Amino acid sequence: MNKTAVFFSPEGGNVNNVTIKLGEIIGNEKVDIIPANKVVKENLKKYDQFIFVGSTVGADHWSNQMIVDEWQDFFRKIDEISFENKKAAIVGLGNSVLYPEHFADGIAHLHSKIANKKAEIFGYTETEGYTFTDSEALNKDGLFLGLPIDEDNEYDLTSERIEKWISKLKPDFEF
Ligand SMILES: Cc1cc2nc3c(=O)[nH]c(=O)nc-3n(C[C@H](O)[C@H](O)[C@H](O)COP(=O)(O)O)c2cc1C
Repeated sequence: MNKTAVFFSPEGGNVNNVTIKLGEIIGNEKVDIIPANKVVKENLKKYDQFIFVGSTVGADHWSNQMIVDEWQDFFRKIDEISFENKKAAIVGLGNSVLYPEHFADGIAHLHSKIANKKAEIFGYTETEGYTFTDSEALNKDGLFLGLPIDEDNEYDLTSERIEKWISKLKPDFEF
């Protein structure tokens, strides 16, 4: 069985730590953990399923060309690669106390990029257990388009949230 590619950005912070935790929970032998800025498009063909781990660093960020956004570079680099017949899921870090009206908005950004590539996206999450006012990352059924993680305020819930999410991803995802 093919491994799952786990892409993450940025390196060296909460996203990095949560990605390591995710790898441990899935089983490190079952994943290839790859920083988004190290993606090699020729290597993508061997994967049938992807997990993307990112964070939200402000609504301005996505459209501000002055800020280096590794995800923009990532998707530019793999521009001509289709994810048709491939599966994807998203983990998005945010801070529900400081940014309750934009909680984990970045999930929506990643979701639209991945959906454009025609991947089938799994891992939508119920809002129960999260305290926030609004998020761009909600779909019309009121589900988050991925798994929000608040490592700044609710780090004690992270492992449990990931474990629950992974068990729900099965059997759509094969690990
Ligand atoms: C400048 C800045 C803006 C942020 N904006 C948001 C936001 O709009 N919504 C949100 O949920 N979290 C926001 N956050 C919180 C981060 O997503 C959170 O701290 C995350 O754990 C950061 O992980 P990283 O350091 O690995 O990128 C922001 C953080 C910073 C530093």
